[in-house]
Amino acid sequence: MRLAILFVAFCLLAACGQKGDNTMQLQSKIDSLQSRLDKTYKPGLGEFMLGIQMHHAKLWFAGEAQNWKLADFEIGEIKEALDDINEYCKDRTEIKSLPMIEPAIDSMNNAIRQKNSQLFKGSFALLTNTCNNCHRATNHEFNVIRIPDSPPVSNQDFKVN
Ligand code: HEC
Repeated sequence: MRLAILFVAFCLLAACGQKGDNTMQLQSKIDSLQSRLDKTYKPGLGEFMLGIQMHHAKLWFAGEAQNWKLADFEIGEIKEALDDINEYCKDRTEIKSLPMIEPAIDSMNNAIRQKNSQLFKGSFALLTNTCNNCHRATNHEFNVIRIPDSPPVSNQDFKVN
């Protein structure tokens, strides 16, 4: 009887030890995954802004050429980048000013939907002013955005083909 109890106790101990080992292994796996996750490359706010700058310039030339499909694509890219900023730049306090751009995006979407050049120009001015308003609100007033006077790239045709 004593032997049996000892045997059961031994088995239980062994099982516990095993479980402890497993938990430790799991924890070290989690730690190593966490450290890999921490080192994963994420674009910063400035990088998203560089992308937005390019789409802002392309949007202007698309609208100038009344290439509404391209204009729609470019404003969509700006919107996507803004959504990504909300997702990936949570550590930047400046993003609380981001919603100020929404009316300008809505206005641009409306101009494009109506294929209206006059509305497009007005919306583009509003969009550009909002970029600058946010830069001022976030102490980045030295990043001044304006309506471009030459296409940002020479290897893309902005006309409707
Ligand atoms: C949250 C408000 C906000 C809005 C809206 C905003 N920006 Fe910015 N922008 C910033 C901040 C903050 C920085 C500085 C980022 C950094 O620290 O690298 C910046 C930086 C920039 C830069 C400098 C990037 C570089 O490395 O040269 C450009 C260009 C830029 N923004 C373009 C735009 C354009 C174009 C728009 C409008 C379509 C816009 N931004 C709208 C906040 C904003």
